[in-house]
Amino acid sequence: MKRVKVSRKAHFNAAHRLYRKDWTDDQNSTNFGKCANPHYHGHNYELIVSVTGEINPATGYVMDMKVLKDHIKSEVEDAFDHKNLNLEVPEFADLNPTAENIVVVIHEKLKPILQPGQSLEVVLYETPRNFVTYSE
Ligand code: NI
Repeated sequence: MKRVKVSRKAHFNAAHRLYRKDWTDDQNSTNFGKCANPHYHGHNYELIVSVTGEINPATGYVMDMKVLKDHIKSEVEDAFDHKNLNLEVPEFADLNPTAENIVVVIHEKLKPILQPGQSLEVVLYETPRNFVTYSE
């Protein structure tokens, strides 16, 4: 069977600060520079969520895009949009909210939507030029 990748774009705005609680201010500043600013800073995050799988012969779909859209909204947009990731999103209470860690958290949250044999890739843009990709 032919495997097809279907993708949906989404976005959220969020604030964060890169730092480790167990490091001194100097260590955090040395490693994370202005991203360690104690007063936080914001990003317009963009993401592309892709599901790859076989076309269901009954529907002609790999996945109903409305189901994907609704899942991204409930699991990512409603959970992260206009939030302070460090303070308001439980997954980052003890996890540095780097783009790398955020993309893995998003992947974990969306994974339950997959049907057997499907795979999931998440691309997260922190800025128009900086982006990370996670798939498994
Ligand atoms: Ni940042």
